[in-house]
Amino acid sequence: MNKKETFQLEFEEHVKEGLIAFPKFLSSKYIYDDRGDELFQQIMALPEYYLTEAEFNIIDTHKENLREIFSTHGAFDLIELGAGDGKKTKVLLRELVENQTDFTYIPIDISQHAIEELTDSLTTILPNLEVQGEQGTYFKVLERLATYNKRPKVIIVLGSNIGNLQHPKAIEFLKKLKEVMSTKDYLFMGFDQKKDPLTIQNAYADSQGVTQEFNRNLLHRINKEMEADFPVHQFEHWESYDPESGTAKSYLIATEACEVELKKLNLKVNFKKWETIHCEISQKYDDDIVEWLAKESGLEIANIFEDDQKLFKDYLFNTKD
Ligand code: AVJ
Repeated sequence: MNKKETFQLEFEEHVKEGLIAFPKFLSSKYIYDDRGDELFQQIMALPEYYLTEAEFNIIDTHKENLREIFSTHGAFDLIELGAGDGKKTKVLLRELVENQTDFTYIPIDISQHAIEELTDSLTTILPNLEVQGEQGTYFKVLERLATYNKRPKVIIVLGSNIGNLQHPKAIEFLKKLKEVMSTKDYLFMGFDQKKDPLTIQNAYADSQGVTQEFNRNLLHRINKEMEADFPVHQFEHWESYDPESGTAKSYLIATEACEVELKKLNLKVNFKKWETIHCEISQKYDDDIVEWLAKESGLEIANIFEDDQKLFKDYLFNTKD
């Protein structure tokens, strides 16, 4: 079975499990087809979605310092997980290239489309950059990362992507990263911070309804790929940020009772009026939580970088063994 078929099978199994369950759930990781990528681009450009600009500010402000840290042990591989369109990374890449840093950039993304677009645009704007893009899911690609052990590596995970994982899964993820890291390697990772709850609420309940379309894309995708008939417009997005746990949760809610048939899965699912599908979590952090996650994973925090408006932080981790 090829990668695409394996992914499709996992997607189908997941949809079956999530729609039979009570309460119902679906994972946001399946939002990202070409249309999903496009909608996420639109989210990053929203005035309410402060995360992108905040992290851009961090990288732009600290790029010289980051260049020096990353080059501590000479030539290195810069491995980016979940590269997307690399808007933020490009600032860093430019800094490295313009100072003749010896490194190879290895962007990894679940979307082949995103990898190709990124590689193409990088060839144009930074012709001297060595790029080696790879398509794959985080956990699968992590195994392959171990084979990049010949040179020191810097693994970067931007955008608070880790926030889609509940703490136990986040620890599992960080542990796997730690396993492929040697004492000369760094991990540079974005963690969106706890803040005024309304700022967070608004970032995920935007006034233009882009986040609603983003979540609805899951249903569109199931309709297309599993011969299903979700009345998508009847499902409305609801965001709920809990300042105690720091968890923002995204739901799609059935505003009318309906029966959905998923022909490819041989499955019929009933929705009561106001029944929910939980689609995503976006976890928010503070230093204590990140320190705890690091400790549980065998990592150490070497440095913390914050944006001007104190909304977001990037943490630099290393490992002592
Ligand atoms: C890509 C996981 C960082 O949770 O903030 C944006 C995805 N979902 N708006 C996030 C997302 C709704 C985003 N991450």
